[in-house]
Amino acid sequence: MKIRIFGVGDDFLKQFSFITTLCFIFFLPVIILASCQSTEYPIDHEQLGKDERIVIRFSHVVGEDTPKGMAARKFAELVKERSNGLIEVQVFSNGTLYKDGEEMNALSRGDIQMIAPAISKLTEIVPEISVFDLPFAFYTLDEVHEYVQSETGKKLTDKLKNHNLLVTGLWDSGFKQISNSIRPIEHYSDLEGLRMRIMPSDILAKQFTTLNAESKRIDFNTVFNQLQKGNVDGQENTLTNITSKNLYSLQNYLTISNHGYLGYFLLFNYEFWNSLSSDVQQLLTETLQEVQQWEWQHTKKMDQEKLQDIKRCECIQLHYLSEEDKLEWEEKLEPVYDYYREHYSDRYIEALPKFQD
Ligand code: SIN
Repeated sequence: MKIRIFGVGDDFLKQFSFITTLCFIFFLPVIILASCQSTEYPIDHEQLGKDERIVIRFSHVVGEDTPKGMAARKFAELVKERSNGLIEVQVFSNGTLYKDGEEMNALSRGDIQMIAPAISKLTEIVPEISVFDLPFAFYTLDEVHEYVQSETGKKLTDKLKNHNLLVTGLWDSGFKQISNSIRPIEHYSDLEGLRMRIMPSDILAKQFTTLNAESKRIDFNTVFNQLQKGNVDGQENTLTNITSKNLYSLQNYLTISNHGYLGYFLLFNYEFWNSLSSDVQQLLTETLQEVQQWEWQHTKKMDQEKLQDIKRCECIQLHYLSEEDKLEWEEKLEPVYDYYREHYSDRYIEALPKFQD
């Protein structure tokens, strides 16, 4: 059957169908190849030059044998495997590339593409983020995870976009404990007069001044030296950080207080992230989600293991705060919440799980 189009002759139709067939034969392989490449990574990208690969330089300040160190390595391995080497995550641990206090600027400038700083270190650019530093703000890690994923949490993390920083996940280090070389900390009044190392956060400073202690902001990579020189008497940190940096070898007393959360936001340079194709973004996002789940489980286990190691070594005197003690500390530390409300906002405090019915 012949289909006739008004005003168009047979010769024209023949020429038209010949040209269409030619185009089809020429373009079909191109279309098939292009569609394959957008969803999978079939090429051996090990063969590509540095300029053709996507290189993500990921700098952090802790050791390999910590939750962050291990998760960073796992992330790099999975990304390499899943992208057939197209994406290479280069991990620089222990502050070897950029030290604490340098890495944020390096990320904003685009000298590196990814970091995972302790959340307290972001409070200098977005002070409201110090809600995470409030003492006894969270009683469990699950509470922290839910808060970060809530609308309130998203509002907070979105504020970092104004600084060219994109939050793509949360890793735990755990709850902080207090160590020092002067005396056992059993009651909060035992902290009076002690010089304590803190991360750069006004709320952490306020926490110690409320307990009549002095606070000193010191980079993580120099805490050991400063303790050794006697420039500070003590510090607060998670057990994995205390052990991986060998801080407990310089301290005589450790109080298991679980008084504050220490965790990390996974940050990308936002411009760099936006320059990636949606396939690459998807691969990274899915892998980050998987590694985050793994990291959360792994951290809990590691924290317990480190506590056992410390007990076994019998090299530091341990004290545990009871639930009643913690309530007393929490009450004593209420002025820190008032300070936050006055200087920042009520809304981030009101959304904390402990203030929900
Ligand atoms: C870190 O875990 O990245 C370091 C935390 C600190 O500065 O104490």
